Amino acid sequence: MLAIIGGSGLTQLSNLEVTRHQVVRTPYGEPSAPLIFGNLRGREVIFLARHGFGHTIAPHEVNYRANIWALHALGVSRVVSVASVGGIRPELGPGVLAVPDQILDYTHGRRNTYFEGDLPVTHVDFTHPYCEALRAQCIAAATRAAEDVVAGGVYAASQGPRLESAAEINRLERDGADMVGMTGMPEAALARELELCYAAIAMVVNHAAGRGESAHAIRLEDVNRVLRQAVARVHTVLEQVVEIDGS
Ligand code: HPA
Repeated sequence: MLAIIGGSGLTQLSNLEVTRHQVVRTPYGEPSAPLIFGNLRGREVIFLARHGFGHTIAPHEVNYRANIWALHALGVSRVVSVASVGGIRPELGPGVLAVPDQILDYTHGRRNTYFEGDLPVTHVDFTHPYCEALRAQCIAAATRAAEDVVAGGVYAASQGPRLESAAEINRLERDGADMVGMTGMPEAALARELELCYAAIAMVVNHAAGRGESAHAIRLEDVNRVLRQAVARVHTVLEQVVEIDGS
């Protein structure tokens, strides 16, 4: 089964016919919200609001282990994550959708593995952090939804919840980052540990700090406006993701 994890601006899927909610407990605690089962385009999917329904859980406080564990426990094998990002590369301006293919992790202090305690030491392969087949499906879905999408890019996961300084963005760019968000890790790595196929659709909602319109500051009212518009477009892409999934 396919699951969708919704980030900022996507605390519910407006076009989902909800069939039931399920509260799940895991050995790692409770997920961000009850899991929502429903039908999208006639196919069953599970939706999880990463920041909780009221958007009350900050990126560094999300229980990523519980979220991914809960999805796995319910029989999910594929996860599409939706996340907003700041664009670093010039072509990643506000409103652009991207399907990243690489990750840089700058987060710290987050519980980022299932392999600890008494379990044998395990090093999962993370050369290609996203599932190629699901990435291709997201890109094809965007095409079918007549939405332009940037097919690739390096996602830098920052700790948040504050936004970055201009110098930090310069450093991320030197490191090879194309976009920056706060929730991509450890989510992707945990999905890999549980052998879930995981891909992300990134919505660029602002120029990263010090770039373009964000040269002097990032204006949150602009971010929210772009986010609302991008979320509406992502809904149509997700419908196509689900449609391709079932065909
Ligand atoms: N930085 C980090 N995370 C973000 C940004 C940003 O500029 N925009 C949206 N999420």
